[in-house]
Amino acid sequence: MNRTDQLFRHEDWPDRWSREHLIASSNDGSLKVGSLKEGAISALSANDLDTKIKNTRSTAKAWFDGTLGVGSDIAHPPPDRPGRPARPHLVPPNRLKKRSIRSQRGRFALLHAIAHIELNAVDLAWDIVGRFAHLHSSQRPMPRSFYDGWVLVALEEAKHFSMLRERLNALDGDYGDLDAHDGLWEAAQTTDHELTARLAVVPLVLEARGLDMTPSMIAQMEEVGDQASADIFRVIYRDEQGHVAVGAKWFRFLCRREGREPAAAFQELVRTHFRGALKPPFNELARARAGLTSGFYKALSSASR
Ligand SMILES: [Fe+2]
Ligand SMILES: [Fe+2]
Repeated sequence: MNRTDQLFRHEDWPDRWSREHLIASSNDGSLKVGSLKEGAISALSANDLDTKIKNTRSTAKAWFDGTLGVGSDIAHPPPDRPGRPARPHLVPPNRLKKRSIRSQRGRFALLHAIAHIELNAVDLAWDIVGRFAHLHSSQRPMPRSFYDGWVLVALEEAKHFSMLRERLNALDGDYGDLDAHDGLWEAAQTTDHELTARLAVVPLVLEARGLDMTPSMIAQMEEVGDQASADIFRVIYRDEQGHVAVGAKWFRFLCRREGREPAAAFQELVRTHFRGALKPPFNELARARAGLTSGFYKALSSASR
């Protein structure tokens, strides 16, 4: 089995959502980009949701087909804010209503909130590729497998968003029907300047938090008999362990290269760039499987203060 086959092997996915299918059916020929960075920016900039997903898939396919270089033109950074549709309206987090998931409206609100997180995650993965692509032309370029990892993350986030949007449609609504908040993007913006800081905050704090939360969301959906939503969360849970692993792998790689001790560097970067303590309980097993051992985050826990 070659490397690309290994990367896309996932027998237990429904066919339509398999990596092989997503990649193989991803390029309708309408997107022409000259580099991975251009493709990342085309997805980031798209306001229209279908275009954002299409550009994500086409760029991923071209990258894994081996037809794109990284593209390291520092003169064209990605946009400060990603393109987004007119709705949902973005409001401060405390303006969002909390509803019980025992009602259909409450379940819809939870699915909508997670869809919003997944859409942010598509843009955050492409932002890592686009914003730090110039490192490729530096004296110490990142290996191509660094980009493989983040392109795959972008593709899977697009899959998560699409699955959730389909589920919202099945519940007679759509993404954009409810308000959402901008906290994720704001957290990312504070780490625009340094790849180690970005990796510490985005995959190793924010995505790792998803590993803590998702098992109870699966259980809650099962408890109220919403198997379809539970199944989507299960796919997300499995994929997200891979995303945290990609983050941990490259965070450790950069620390080694910079002569820093990874756990100490993580704590310093999170204290500088992330507001607030990390909330327990932590899913220690899933975090450790992804390479994020407790020595990294325990000292930052609100329980240790
Ligand atoms: Fe995701
Ligand atoms: Fe993710």
